[in-house]
Amino acid sequence: MADPRRTLDRTARLAELVGRLSLAEKVHLLTGETAFTLPGNDRIGLAPLAFSDGPTGVRGLKFVGGDAVALLPNATLIAGSFDDEVAAEVGRLLAEEAQRQQIHVVLGPTVNLHRSPLGGRLFEAYSEDPYLTGRTAAAYVRGMQEHGTAACLKHLVANESETLRNFMDSRVSETALRELYLLPFEMAVADAGAWSMMAAYNDVNGVPATEQDHVQNRIVKGEWDWDGLIMSDWFATKRTVASANGGLDLVMPGPDGPWGARLVAAVRAGEVPEESVDDHVLRLLRLADRVGGLTPEGQQPRRWAQDQPTVDSPVRREQLRRIAARGMTVATNNGVLPLAVDAGGAVALIGRHAIDTVDMGGGSATVNPPYRSTVAEGLSALLGDRVHVTDGVAVRARPVAADPAFLTDPVTGTPGMQVVLLAADGTELSRCHSDSSTISIGWDDEFDQDPATAVLTTTLANDAGPVLLGAIGTGDWTVAGGGAEVSARLRVAGQDPGGTMLRPPAFAGTVELPAAATVTATVALHPVDWRELLLREPSLGLAEESHLLDMTALGRTALVAAPAPRHDDELIAAAEAAAAGAGTAVVVVGLTEEDETEAADKTTLALPGRQDELVHRVAAAAGRTVVVVNAATPVLMPWLAEVDAVLVAGLPGQEGGHAVAAALTGALEPTGRLVTSWPAADGAAPAWDVVPGEDLALPYDDGTFIGHRGFHAGHAPAPLFWFGHGLGYGSWEYGTAQAHESPDGLEVTVELTNTSARDSRETVQVYLDPAEEDQPIRLVGYRGADVAAGATAAVTVTCDARLLRRWDEATGTWSPLAGGGELVVARGLGDVRARVSLA
Ligand code: BGC
Repeated sequence: MADPRRTLDRTARLAELVGRLSLAEKVHLLTGETAFTLPGNDRIGLAPLAFSDGPTGVRGLKFVGGDAVALLPNATLIAGSFDDEVAAEVGRLLAEEAQRQQIHVVLGPTVNLHRSPLGGRLFEAYSEDPYLTGRTAAAYVRGMQEHGTAACLKHLVANESETLRNFMDSRVSETALRELYLLPFEMAVADAGAWSMMAAYNDVNGVPATEQDHVQNRIVKGEWDWDGLIMSDWFATKRTVASANGGLDLVMPGPDGPWGARLVAAVRAGEVPEESVDDHVLRLLRLADRVGGLTPEGQQPRRWAQDQPTVDSPVRREQLRRIAARGMTVATNNGVLPLAVDAGGAVALIGRHAIDTVDMGGGSATVNPPYRSTVAEGLSALLGDRVHVTDGVAVRARPVAADPAFLTDPVTGTPGMQVVLLAADGTELSRCHSDSSTISIGWDDEFDQDPATAVLTTTLANDAGPVLLGAIGTGDWTVAGGGAEVSARLRVAGQDPGGTMLRPPAFAGTVELPAAATVTATVALHPVDWRELLLREPSLGLAEESHLLDMTALGRTALVAAPAPRHDDELIAAAEAAAAGAGTAVVVVGLTEEDETEAADKTTLALPGRQDELVHRVAAAAGRTVVVVNAATPVLMPWLAEVDAVLVAGLPGQEGGHAVAAALTGALEPTGRLVTSWPAADGAAPAWDVVPGEDLALPYDDGTFIGHRGFHAGHAPAPLFWFGHGLGYGSWEYGTAQAHESPDGLEVTVELTNTSARDSRETVQVYLDPAEEDQPIRLVGYRGADVAAGATAAVTVTCDARLLRRWDEATGTWSPLAGGGELVVARGLGDVRARVSLA
C-alpha cells in the first residue's frame, strides 16, 4: 500500500509540472507521436514513452515483423492453470521482455470475457468467468508492475466480439456490467493497482467506450478512486469534445487524431474545461513517473540494463514449456495417457497441426518469435523413431504468406525477396532486401515513401511441378515466372479499416513451374480512402473528426508461394494407413490464426475443413487414438466417443510442440482446467450471436447468466465439457467440506486425497449457488494444491466477497446476497464432490 502522504507529495509535484506547460504543449502530449510512442518534453524531464502489444509477447515498436521476441502461451493456457503464481511469472517475464526493448507499457492483459464462443478474440482473453479473469489479470499485472513496467487492462468495456467492432453497440444492463464485465478491471485495480487501461472500439449502451463518462469518470476514476491513465484503442476515438470530457486521457496512435488543434480550440471555446486537460496530463505524467520516464532536470531518463535472458535461452525455453503444459487440459482419458516413453510400438502422429502447429492467434497480439516448435519435433525428440509423422487435411481457407525459407532473394542470395518500390511515373523510390515474405506499406514500416507499385522478386525452393502462387494485399496483382502467371484485382470488403489491415484480401492459384523458378510479383497498389468509404455511410454515424477515418494505410502486402498441397482424399487415405500400422495414433487438429483472430468472429465451432472426417477415419483404423486440440476456444467433437483421450493444448507459444509432447508423455503434467464451457453443438450456449442488428446493437440478453452460470440454469443444453473441467493425471477423493468465517471472510475447507500413483495437482473450485431465484450459480474461489501420491491434504479456499454481492439497479449500490444457498465444491459443475448448506 502506497504511503498516502508520499502519494500526495508526488501528485503535487506532478501538478506543478503540468502548470509549467502551455495549453498547446499539454494537448500535444495527449496524442501519440507515432504508432507506439508518445512525445516527450525536455523542459519537464518527460521521456518519450514507448508502448508495445501485448498480451502474449512484447512485439516492440513495429506492427508487422520486428525483432525476435519471446512468444508465450496464449491467455487461455495461462488462466487454465488456475494459478496466481503462473500468471505472476508471465507478468515478470513480459516485464523483462519489455525492458530488454526499452518499452514502458505493455498493452495487456486482455480482460474481456468469453461471452459467446464465437468471439474471434477470445484466445487473447482469459475466460468466460469474471472471477478467474480478474484473479489471473491481477497476478499478471502484479508480476509485471513490480518490475517497473506498466500493464494496460483492455478493452474497457463490453468488447466481447469483433463483428463491426468500431460501430457496434453492446447493450448491457448495469447489473451485468458491474457484476461481470467490469469486475476483472475492478479486481486488477484493487488487488494489483494496474497503471493504465485501454478504452474499446465499441459503444456501450449507445455511448462510445472512449466517451463513457459513466464508466470512465464515474465508476473507474470516481467510485474506484483510480489514479491511472486511460488510452484509446488504436484509432478508436470518435469525437473530440465528448472523449476529452468523457474521461479518455490519451489518444492513440499519433501523430494525427481528433485531439491536437481541435482540442485546443474546444478548450478555448469553453467546450472542454482546461482542468480536464490538466487531469489527463497529470495522469500521463504519473504513468511516466511510475515507469521511470520522468526525471528531474538535467538527469537522463531511465534506461533498462540489458541483463535479461535472451529469447531462446535455456531459461526461457524451460519457462515457456512449463507454463504452456501447466495450462493444457486433459478433457477425456481412458488410460491411454500419459503415453509410455519406454514402451515399444509405433506412434502414428497425424495432422496438419502436427507439422504446422499453431502457436498464436491473429491480429495485434501477433509477435515475431525466435523459433517455433511443432508437435512433430517435440514428440520425435521424446520418442525418437517410434514416431511416424503424416500430414493431415487442409485447415485454412485463405492463402498464407510464403515461408521465407522457401524463398531466396536473387540479389543477396539469402532467404527472402528483393523489394523495389516505384512512384506513379515509374521512378524507382527504393530497392531493398526483405527477409520476410510480408512487407507493410504505409503505417509503421520502413517504406516512408508513397509508392504506386511494388515489385517483389524471389527464387523458389520448388521442385519441378505444381506450386501455389498468389498474393495478399489490396491492389492489382500479377505474379509471374517460369512461364506461368496468376493475377487478381484485390479490393477491401467491409467497413473495418483495422480488420482490412489485419486480414487483407488474398488470392492464390496452382501453376506448373520448373524447379527453382524465379518469380516476380508486381502490384499496382490501391490505398483505401476510408474517409470517403465510411463517411458515405450515414448509418455508421461517424463524425468528421473520427480517428478511424485517418486509416489510409495499406497494411500487409505479401507474396504467397508454397508447394501445391496434396488433395484431402489422398491425405486421409495416407493417415488411415499410417494409423492402421501403429498401436497408437495421435491426431492433432485445431483452428488457425484465420479463425482465432482479432477483427473477425467465427460462425461455427466445427473444426475447419475435413478434420472431423480425418479423426473418424483414424479412430476406426488405429488401436488407440489420442486427439490433441490445438485451439484456444471450444470446438465440436463429433468423434468424441470413438477416441481414447483428448488433450486441449491451446495456442502454446514458441515452445508449444515440446510442451505438447511433455504433456502427452507426462514429463510435465497437463494440470489445466477449462476456462470456458465447451458447447455440445453450434448454438447450444447461453449467448451465441455476435452479429449486431441493423441498429448496430448487440443485446447482452444473457444478463449475468454468462457461460457455466447460464448452462447450470438450463438456459442451454448441458455442455460437452463444463468450465473448470480437467482430469490431469492424478485421481482424487474429496472428504466432506466445511464452511467457516475467518478474518478473510467466508472459507471452505475440504480434505483431498491423491488416490493415484503419481504426485499431482488438484484445483479445488468453490461455487456459490445462492438462495435467490434470480441469482446464478458462480465461481467464488479456487485454490491449487500439489499433493504427493497417496497423500491427503486439507485445502482451504477463500470465497471472494466481490462474488457474494449483487448490484441493485434501483438504488445504484451493492448489497450483500441474502444469505443461505449452498456452496458447491466441484471439479467443474459436471463433477460435484461436496456441498455445504449455508445458514
Ligand atoms: C487492438 C489493441 C491493440 C492495438 C495496438 C488494436 O487493434 O484492439 O488490443 O493493443 O491495436 O496494436
